[in-house]
Amino acid sequence: MPLEPCVVQEILGAWVLAEPREPGEVEVPLGEAERALLAEMPWPLRRAEWLAGRRVAKRLLQRALNLDPLRTQVLPLESGAPRISFDGVPRPELVLNLSHTKGWAVAAVATSRVGIDVCDDVDGERIARIARRVFSEGEAEACGAFRSRETQAAVWAMKEAGLKLFIGGVFDPGARAIRVESLSPPRVVANPMMQVALLRLPDAAVAVSRDEVASDSGR
Ligand SMILES: CC(C)(COP(=O)(O)OP(=O)(O)OC[C@H]1O[C@@H](n2cnc3c(N)ncnc32)[C@H](O)[C@@H]1OP(=O)(O)O)[C@@H](O)C(=O)NCCC(=O)NCCS
Repeated sequence: MPLEPCVVQEILGAWVLAEPREPGEVEVPLGEAERALLAEMPWPLRRAEWLAGRRVAKRLLQRALNLDPLRTQVLPLESGAPRISFDGVPRPELVLNLSHTKGWAVAAVATSRVGIDVCDDVDGERIARIARRVFSEGEAEACGAFRSRETQAAVWAMKEAGLKLFIGGVFDPGARAIRVESLSPPRVVANPMMQVALLRLPDAAVAVSRDEVASDSGR
């Protein structure tokens, strides 16, 4: 399914926005805590991606939830996951996630856990080099992970979006904990159970992950 750049879309009950990256450091209103964090970042590439992430996140929060970007900050939790603060007050009832590559910055927000990841097709090839670490026995063959650059990018994005849903450490349990069963339709097996949407941007794959609500819940 295509994801239209620069348009807020609802995916699996989350609001999602994708923007193409612009060269260098983009303009985005920053609060005091954000400015302090940026001041500690010496590497130009890291500063640029961090700013692109804040910009897409704040635009999403403004368009989807009417949160004024001048009063909103996107700050890291201890795990590195982003959290929203409005007028200096944390808003834990809103869950934000974001991802950036050379080509894209994407963000998702929801009222319960959400993960998002974008993988440029050219970067999908990385997954072959670390296959033994990220795939369980037979997984890559069964889902057709190595069929093309696009499928490799899709698998990468699905695993990363799944890991980000945990919000805690992304290295523990690690990429094998998200087993990609199928790319079409997109389906993963993980504990806790999650649903994943797979979307296409020009030359990139995007995955959005959400907790799966058990069908017999509330009985
Ligand atoms: C730390 C990690 C989130 C970085 O991911 P990445 O693909 O390099 O970068 P992305 O741009 O997609 O995501 C980075 C964003 O994720 C968010 N993030 C960081 N830690 C997170 C966490 N624990 N949970 C949820 N989101 C997190 C942050 O917003 C971060 O951007 P920011 O620091 O600029 O705000 C993590 O996914 C990672 O390094 N994983 C490697 C694990 C692995 O083996 N992956 C292989 C998958 S096949």
